[in-house]
Amino acid sequence: MRGEPLDIRGKRLKRSNESATGFTSSIGFDAPIARHVIRINTAHMLTLIRGGEVKKGIGAECLKFLLEAAPETTTGQFEDIHQAIEQSAVDRLGVEKAGFLNLGKSRNDQVASAIRMELRERIILLLTRVNLLQESLLGVVKRDGRTVIPGFTHLQHERVNLSPMGAAALAGTSVNIDRRLIASLLGFTGIIDNSMDAVSSRDFAVEALSSCEMLMIELSRIAEEIILWSSKEFGFVEVADEYAASSSIMPQKKNPVTAELVRAKCGSVLGSLQAVCTILKGLPYSYNLDLQEVTPHLWAGLANTQRSVEIIDGTISTLIFNPKALSRSMEGDYSTATSLANYLVKSSGLSFREAHSLVGEVVRKSVEEAIPFFEAARELPNLSKKIPPLDEKTLQSILDPTALLKSIVTAGGANPQFIPGGVERRLRLVHRNRSRLAKLEGDLKLAELSLLRNANSLLGEVRN
Ligand code: ARG
Repeated sequence: MRGEPLDIRGKRLKRSNESATGFTSSIGFDAPIARHVIRINTAHMLTLIRGGEVKKGIGAECLKFLLEAAPETTTGQFEDIHQAIEQSAVDRLGVEKAGFLNLGKSRNDQVASAIRMELRERIILLLTRVNLLQESLLGVVKRDGRTVIPGFTHLQHERVNLSPMGAAALAGTSVNIDRRLIASLLGFTGIIDNSMDAVSSRDFAVEALSSCEMLMIELSRIAEEIILWSSKEFGFVEVADEYAASSSIMPQKKNPVTAELVRAKCGSVLGSLQAVCTILKGLPYSYNLDLQEVTPHLWAGLANTQRSVEIIDGTISTLIFNPKALSRSMEGDYSTATSLANYLVKSSGLSFREAHSLVGEVVRKSVEEAIPFFEAARELPNLSKKIPPLDEKTLQSILDPTALLKSIVTAGGANPQFIPGGVERRLRLVHRNRSRLAKLEGDLKLAELSLLRNANSLLGEVRN
C-alpha cells in the first residue's frame, strides 16, 4: 500500500531545494549505520507496545515491516537514513500506522545510538587485529631476540557502549518508553543518564580516534624503523617482495611502500581526530547538524587504523633480518664505552664522572688517530694511577657487545636471558585479551538474537 507522501518538515516548511538537501544530507555516508537504525526502530517499537503507547495490531505491522526491511541505503532526495526508513515504512503501511514509528524518539538520539552500535563493533574488530599484531610481534621476538620492539597501550571500550535512546530530541519524552529495556535489546550495557549529553555528546568519537592516533603513532615509529633499517646504508632487514614496490625508472629499487604509507596514515588519522575536535569546539548544546559532519571522519579514522594494523603485521611477520649486517654495524663503534666506564668505577675506585672523562679521552684518541677503540683503551692505566693494569682478555670481554647485554641485571633490560620470560608474560596477556574480545563479540550477537526473539514473540501474541 502506498501511503500519504510523508514530509518530516510537516506543514511547517516548504520543500527545500535540491542543492540545499544535497548539501545537508548524510544519506551518502549513512550506509554503515543503516542496519542499526532498523534495530533501534524495532527495539523502540517493542517498548512502545509494551508501554501501552501503540496498539498491538499496529505495532505488530510496524515490527513485521522492520524485520523484513533491507538495510541497504536508499538513494533519492532524503535528509538521511532515518527519514528514508520511515518513508519506506509509510510507503508500505500508510502514515496512519507507520506514523507511530517516531513517537517518543528523535533522529538525534537515534543517530547517536546507531553510531555507538557501529563503533563498538569496529573497536572489537580493531582490537582483535591489534591482538594478532601483538602475537606476531612476540613471534618475531621469539625468532630473533636481537629485535627490540616497543609495547602497546590498550584501547578503552566502556564509554562507547551506553544507550542514548529515550533522550528523544534532547530533554526526554512524556511517551512511556523504557530506556533500560531498549538499551538491553540493543546490546548496550547501560544508558547515558543525561538526555542532553546523550544526543549532543561525541566525546566517544574523540576518545576512539585519540586511541587510534595513539596506536598509529606507535605503528608509524615501527614503520620508520623498517624504512630506515631496510635502506641500503643500514641493511639490517629486508622487506618481503609482496610488501615492497619497485621504481618505474630505477630498476635497482625496492621501496618499503607499505611501511611508508602506514607512517603517512598516522597523519591522516590525526587529521580525522583534529577535524572532529574542531567541529565540536564551541558548539552549543544540544544537537546541531554540525554533529553529522563528525561521522565520516570517525569511520575514516577507524578504517585507516584497521588497515594499517593489518598491513604492518604482514610487513613485520615477513621481514628478513640480516644478522651479519647487524654485527658489522657494531664493529668499531663505541656503544660499550659506558660499560668500560662502569668497569673502571668498580676496579679503580674512581668516581663515575672521573671514569666517564677518562673513557671520553680514550674515545677521542681512537677517533683522531683512527685506531680501534680496543687499542686506545689499553692506554687507560697510563692515564690514571688509580687504574690497575688491564689484561687483554678482561678488556676484550668488557668491550664485547654480546657480553655487555648478558651483564644487564635490571628488569626489563636487553639481557637476552630475559626474553623468553618476557614473551611468555606478554603472550598470556594477549590471550586473555583475546578471550575478552570474543566475549564482547558474543554478547553483541546474543543481544541481536534477543531483539529478534522479542519481536517475533510479539508477532506471535498478535496472531493468537
Ligand atoms: N543525519 C543526522 C546525523 O547524521 C541525523 C540527525 C538529524 N537531526 C536533526 N534534527 N536534523 O547526525
